[in-house]
Amino acid sequence: RIAGPSVLVLFGVTGDLARKKLLPAIYDLANRGLLPPGFGLVGFARRDWVDQDFAQLAYEAVKEHARTPFREDVWRQLSEGMRFVQGELGDDASFDELARCVRQLDADRGTGGNYAFYLSLPPKLFPTVVKQLRRSGLAESEGEAWRRVIIEKPFGHDLESAKELNAVVDDVFPPQSVFRIDHYLGKETVQNIMALRFANTLFEPIWNRGYVDHVQITMAEDIGVGGRAGYYDGIGAARDVIQNHLLQLLALVAMEEPISFTADAIRAEKEKALSAVTLPEDLSRGTARGQYAAGWQGGTPVIGYLDEEGIPADSGTDTYAAIKLGVNTRRWAGVPFYLRTGKRLGRRVTEVALVFQSAPQQVFGQTETEELGANSLVLRIQPDEGVTLRFGSKVPGASMEVRDVSMDFTYGQSFTEASPEAYERLILDVLIGDPPLFPRQEEVELSWRILDPIEEYWAKNGRPEQYESGTWGPSSAHEMMARDGRQWRRP
Ligand code: BG6
Repeated sequence: RIAGPSVLVLFGVTGDLARKKLLPAIYDLANRGLLPPGFGLVGFARRDWVDQDFAQLAYEAVKEHARTPFREDVWRQLSEGMRFVQGELGDDASFDELARCVRQLDADRGTGGNYAFYLSLPPKLFPTVVKQLRRSGLAESEGEAWRRVIIEKPFGHDLESAKELNAVVDDVFPPQSVFRIDHYLGKETVQNIMALRFANTLFEPIWNRGYVDHVQITMAEDIGVGGRAGYYDGIGAARDVIQNHLLQLLALVAMEEPISFTADAIRAEKEKALSAVTLPEDLSRGTARGQYAAGWQGGTPVIGYLDEEGIPADSGTDTYAAIKLGVNTRRWAGVPFYLRTGKRLGRRVTEVALVFQSAPQQVFGQTETEELGANSLVLRIQPDEGVTLRFGSKVPGASMEVRDVSMDFTYGQSFTEASPEAYERLILDVLIGDPPLFPRQEEVELSWRILDPIEEYWAKNGRPEQYESGTWGPSSAHEMMARDGRQWRRP
């Protein structure tokens, strides 16, 4: 799978995402031989720059963040196809200049008239850009050539705004040309959920309410809000990652087997799973939210959310959220799915844990296990990628004592190939035109349908509870589990 001739136009080149992820990913793709020799990359921004300045920014980004080693020849080839257009998003002349630049690049590099537009911008700017793409003629293709648009989350901040946003994009680009990025779907370990479930016979028979007691989906981060106050405040943890990453993980765990590995078949199953999601009857008992206070992280003192630069001193934004959901299908009825995420938690870890029911009786007496004698299957999404099966085993010795042990699969030990960065995979898929890893608008809307009532409830009911940085979140989240006779895993 190699991308064909194409130009990628990047809006928001001077942003964090472009520097840390997108530009390095493009270089890594080139370095792995997955981009065509004539590939073109156009940066668009307000800065008073020329092509060389853009190439310099890309060079520094690659040097700092690329996964693959730096190779002079690869860089030269790639940078020769880089152009920069200085302009304003709302300005006709700027887009006319962009159109001229893209067509010239097309002629110089033989990119076949295939253009992808990456909107690495705040969503409020999407309408302006897509309208300009139409006005300048850039959105229209001739003959076999294609046009694709890539949009980054957040896809709105609730159901209504997501629909409005979609209407704007839909007006200019047909659905099959719209690629919504949820970078979790680009992660190897996330794609492996489907492989694990459907390429094996071992797990599916027990992947249901007959065996699973509950599911825990955790996305914990040790970092704080960093320099992203402007984006994050008012959005909060649930909108930032539960609406997208965590509900996508839930869908992959809960869905039925698709009839094929095509975008339509996979999306149809994910949509069914998301449509079956139910909220806790009492949101005060089935949800919890928090905001980090000062504390310690990796032996260093860190400040609280309210003291971060750019955050209003009375901000009620959640930096931690925990939600208990149900999935009302024959497979999952009665099995709670506990989702949690937070910044400034004990450590950075994302995992999906299926915690199985305990054996109906313990003939060996009390077991000493962290999940109260339950077996578990843990899909380690990151950073220590792999899968762990936890089960009880006899402790060697004269007595019949049983203790939990682990059976581990670790990517680093089983495969010599390093996993590509999520954005590499996703950018390549866009250029190839391969859509299975991109959520469709229906999925986006279904996810907002789940989150909206919770956000509304939170907005009306008090402030998030403070939790000390470096801990595992607010006590209300632990109480929420304890009421169900369960406990959060310590990853
Ligand atoms: C982004 C969120 O989608 O995911 C960030 O906006 C978060 O707040 C990031 O830090 C985490 O991504 P990853 O790949 O490091 O888990």
